[in-house]
Amino acid sequence: MKVIKVKDYNELSKVACEIFVKEIKKNPSLTLGLATGSTPIGLYQNLIKEYEKGNISFKDVKTFNLDEYCELERSHPQSYYTFMHENLFSKIDINLDNVHLPRTDGTDLEKLAKEYNELLLQNQIDLQVLGIGSNGHIGFNEPGTSFDQETFVVELTQKTREDNKRFFNSIDEVPTHAITMGIKNILAAKKIVLLASGKAKAEAIYKTVKEQPTPDVPASALQLHPDVTIIVDEEAGALL
Ligand code: F6R
Repeated sequence: MKVIKVKDYNELSKVACEIFVKEIKKNPSLTLGLATGSTPIGLYQNLIKEYEKGNISFKDVKTFNLDEYCELERSHPQSYYTFMHENLFSKIDINLDNVHLPRTDGTDLEKLAKEYNELLLQNQIDLQVLGIGSNGHIGFNEPGTSFDQETFVVELTQKTREDNKRFFNSIDEVPTHAITMGIKNILAAKKIVLLASGKAKAEAIYKTVKEQPTPDVPASALQLHPDVTIIVDEEAGALL
């Protein structure tokens, strides 16, 4: 794993953007794996600027998001579908037919997870961006998830629901379940970039980089992948 330490969130977002721009220029029809949450927002803002300057186009780019909440309609303000449209898709020239997030709007969630898994098997991700949970989760693969796990319906831990309640009026409104790519799907990407900012991530980053891979720290599975770059700011990298 390559670890890049930067000063702060702004620099982290710029360095991540440079990697994305380079890969998009190399292959304008590449397949991106995308994440939601606070961490990639700066990356997306920088990518929008690069698009506005005419440096890159998303016209032929395909995207697959890591995860989506269950129990929320796609139109809900906190769905990851809405998040991606507000923070990226509506501001670039991407063809919305090429955009994919797990569907969670049916009654048979297991079937919907399986369908997303099939799509992922047919479309290898060239470049995957990840955030990391304070408990070490990637996607919504919570501690204890097998490294062989494929896309599945996950029950979110109390910790993850607490971490994400800042986006909702109360903890009761935070969904209890999500559909997420499994660790196996994530490891199938050709290139992975994990971003971590702030002191709440320092311990998870330490365990991810320095300790033996273990399902107790899902992100530590990345040690098994040949092309992972971890970009941390001073606070997230403080224990390294
Ligand atoms: C989001 C996702 C999660 C987040 C993680 C960190 O699609 O899969 O793993 O990346 O929970 O979230 P933030 O960036 O909000 O700290």
